[in-house]
Amino acid sequence: MSSSTPVQQVQRSPARQLWSRGDFHRIGVSQSIVAERLVADLHVYTGERVLDVAGGSGNTALAAARRWAEVTCTDAVPELLEIAAQRASAERVPLRVQVAEVEDLPFPDGGFDVVTSTFGAMYAADHHRAAEEMLRVLRPGGRLGLTAWTPDGWCGAQGALSRRYLPPPPDQEQDPPQVPGTAWGEPEHVRALLGDRVEALQLVTRTSAITATDTTALFELWIECAAPLAAFFAALQPQQRAAARREWIALAERFNSARDGTCEIAAEHLSVTATRR
Ligand SMILES: C[S@@+](CC[C@H](N)C(=O)[O-])C[C@H]1O[C@@H](n2cnc3c(N)ncnc32)[C@H](O)[C@@H]1O
Repeated sequence: MSSSTPVQQVQRSPARQLWSRGDFHRIGVSQSIVAERLVADLHVYTGERVLDVAGGSGNTALAAARRWAEVTCTDAVPELLEIAAQRASAERVPLRVQVAEVEDLPFPDGGFDVVTSTFGAMYAADHHRAAEEMLRVLRPGGRLGLTAWTPDGWCGAQGALSRRYLPPPPDQEQDPPQVPGTAWGEPEHVRALLGDRVEALQLVTRTSAITATDTTALFELWIECAAPLAAFFAALQPQQRAAARREWIALAERFNSARDGTCEIAAEHLSVTATRR
């Protein structure tokens, strides 16, 4: 891995602890189409300096590298970056990978022409800090491209289910206050986060397919590979787990559009592009 931060020296941040669970790449790779669409919307071109944050196993970084950009893929989880590096090597495209938290990007001001994050920055605990950092490392005139699951779509509905089982303690003040990541899928939240530091803001709602043999198979796959779902189930009392599993599968059935007994969910996300002033 061509990382400037040796794996053994990286502290286990809360993000790293959470997202090291399971094999995220197995489900993440199915959303490559979202990454390809985002870099096409951003018109990434040869030689541009692109930073992909919370880039996981490299979907969006690779999409930009395929357009001959000079790409750095960052994430909290070194094991996911190893997969990104392996994918780049198999495709024979250059890719730099570096362990970094979204809220504390180890790059100078204005060092990138393009900053991207597909379903990544939305999971940073401090939304304002994440937005600040992504804009800080982007040069004036540079382009920002993000995608986030919407609160009313499939991933937002799962979050609502887990908050019903495990509501945040009412008397516990959180600093920063805990706002669901799917708030990044709401136009007003994005406008408030980016403010007047961007222009040409485009907000488009799209869907991408999540497929499985059937909804039960989807549950079995996601409990193994989707870190937030695995963490939610691990936090439940053993006697709650069977009910939560039934509810999750019933929810998947509500979103399932397949009529042949299989599973195909059109998962909704907000795609955001903007130019840094
Ligand atoms: C749903 S995955 C998306 C990965 C990738 N962007 C993609 O489109 O496949 C979320 C990623 O965000 C990373 N992540 C979450 N919080 C983070 C943080 N605070 N700093 C850096 N990475 C973070 C996780 O490690 C994980 O790889």
